[in-house]
Amino acid sequence: MERNKKRVFSGIQPSGDLHLGNYVGAIKQWVALQDEYECIFSIVDLHAITVPYDPALLKERIRRLAALYLACGIDPQKAVVFVQSHNPDHPVLAWLLDCVASMGQLRRMTQYKAKAEKLKEKVTVGLFNYPALMAADILLYQTDVVPVGEDQKQHVELTRDLAEKFNARFGETFKLPEVKILQVGARVMSLQNPSKKMSKSAEDPNGTIDLLDSPEEIVRKVKSAVTDSGREIVFDRENKPGISNLLAIYANLSGKKIEKLEEEYQGKGYGEFKTDLADLIVETLRPIQERYQKIRKEEDYLESLFQEGLRKVKPISEATLKKVYERMGLG
Ligand code: TYM
Repeated sequence: MERNKKRVFSGIQPSGDLHLGNYVGAIKQWVALQDEYECIFSIVDLHAITVPYDPALLKERIRRLAALYLACGIDPQKAVVFVQSHNPDHPVLAWLLDCVASMGQLRRMTQYKAKAEKLKEKVTVGLFNYPALMAADILLYQTDVVPVGEDQKQHVELTRDLAEKFNARFGETFKLPEVKILQVGARVMSLQNPSKKMSKSAEDPNGTIDLLDSPEEIVRKVKSAVTDSGREIVFDRENKPGISNLLAIYANLSGKKIEKLEEEYQGKGYGEFKTDLADLIVETLRPIQERYQKIRKEEDYLESLFQEGLRKVKPISEATLKKVYERMGLG
């Protein structure tokens, strides 16, 4: 790959289908960056095995996720798509970074703390080390920009800290990546509980809109979304978290400013607003779902996409790893 553009790296775990939070917070940003940056998008399956999962489903989930990347507008002519586990340089660098990271640094990660609290005795060492693997993903490609949702910001900051620590100890090796987060939509909340983020593992599935949900399901979920007392459609995260979340989704998908939406819906009730929002989501997802079905019919296509992706990323990660080995005195 030529390096005349800045490089973007990001990834999603194949731990379930994509939801609206992933789309708004991450993938939409990725699609917009494809022309200006050299983009590498990974399906981070090695991260997905850090929590209990079903091996019989993982392969299929990887392919579903890849098909969704493309259906959402990732263009393999412009961006590289590959599966993390196909490139063993990732766990190798993760190990080397484990030997640089301190326990205290990793223990501070809020996502680890939240997951560990839920999993209790099922917490694996892999879950604890997860951020070092994520740092390896990013640093292997000397990444400039990492577009993610708000919940991943702390992990990208840790990546920078680890890179700095490594560079200080062993000599200049890694580029320090910048995080890229949206102003509106960086944190899409559950439709059922606006104090929690929309997620694949949410306790209440009605709070999460999957990109492959049917129009009927979408309408039902939006209509049953919790709203707040009063009936004005105004953005106020603190006092009206439900309607503010819906407004943020609406603004992101329509490209309209929140103030403009507040104006448009002045004097109108939640019912009308929700009907329009449900329509907007259905119409946004319709072409994505159609493209997804088409891609899934071409069995061999994804396999060749993965091979091509690996062929492109491997020389970059190898060059970084070679440098790291030399600096660390290995080999
Ligand atoms: P993951 O798989 O949990 O989520 C994928 C992306 O979607 C964003 N996201 C959201 N954005 C807004 N609102 C939400 N409710 C929401 N839920 C999820 C996430 O911020 C993320 O951008 N550790 C990462 C995957 C990863 C990675 C990397 C990312 C592994 N290596 C290297 C960037 C670079 C994760 O678990 O994302």
